[in-house]
Amino acid sequence: MHSSVLQANNVTGRRIITIDGPAGAGKTTVSKALAKVLGCVYVDTGALYRGVAFEISRQQINWQETHLLERFLTSLELDFVMEGREPVLTSSGRDISAYIRTNEISMLASSTSAVPQVRKALLGIQKSIARERDAVFEGRDMGTAVFPNASYKFFLTADVKVRAQRRFEESNTPGISFNKILQDIVKRDADDTQRAISPLKPAQDAVFIDTTALDVSQVVEKMKRIIKIA
Ligand code: DC
Repeated sequence: MHSSVLQANNVTGRRIITIDGPAGAGKTTVSKALAKVLGCVYVDTGALYRGVAFEISRQQINWQETHLLERFLTSLELDFVMEGREPVLTSSGRDISAYIRTNEISMLASSTSAVPQVRKALLGIQKSIARERDAVFEGRDMGTAVFPNASYKFFLTADVKVRAQRRFEESNTPGISFNKILQDIVKRDADDTQRAISPLKPAQDAVFIDTTALDVSQVVEKMKRIIKIA
């Protein structure tokens, strides 16, 4: 898979911070806030998996057929383009970020992310960003599989109903009910934690934070104390 962007600078010894956890645990908001404090970029790796799902859906790829999936992945040109501190996801140069947050794409991204060829195709782009810049990476397997030597690792979680409520409030799928979102989160949790390759789980050396009763600034404060930048 093609991957260019995120211009290199000359400094070596990157500071990589990983934030893993299930949907709705607060990873995105917290990662953005922490990246701002640290003055580094924020990388939402879930967006890459969503980008794969979006293109599979748009191009109507029969992804369960290995040879069709492999041909599709070879032609796929997902990339991140920097806009300020937040990389914007592009596919063949086109900004697709407006199309990847629907409930349908969430579910398809979870299913297709269990396929080894998909994970392998996305590994390169994640590593290449980390070679070029200090970054906060959020996802499911950042601290375990992609960056086992990260400087700091966090694992966020929260009560499943609270997570569903957060997703309900930010949902852009018209007419979707709270119960449907809750059901889908429960399914996604199960699929993401039980898949054979790079399942969602805390790295042994990750700091575990339950965000059920915490707001973003409280979580970021905890992280700052751990990183010793408070
Ligand atoms: O973080 P998110 O909800 O946008 O992620 C969408 C799906 O992508 C998630 O259900 C599982 C998959 N994913 C993954 O397998 N590994 C990652 N590092 C990030 C996301």
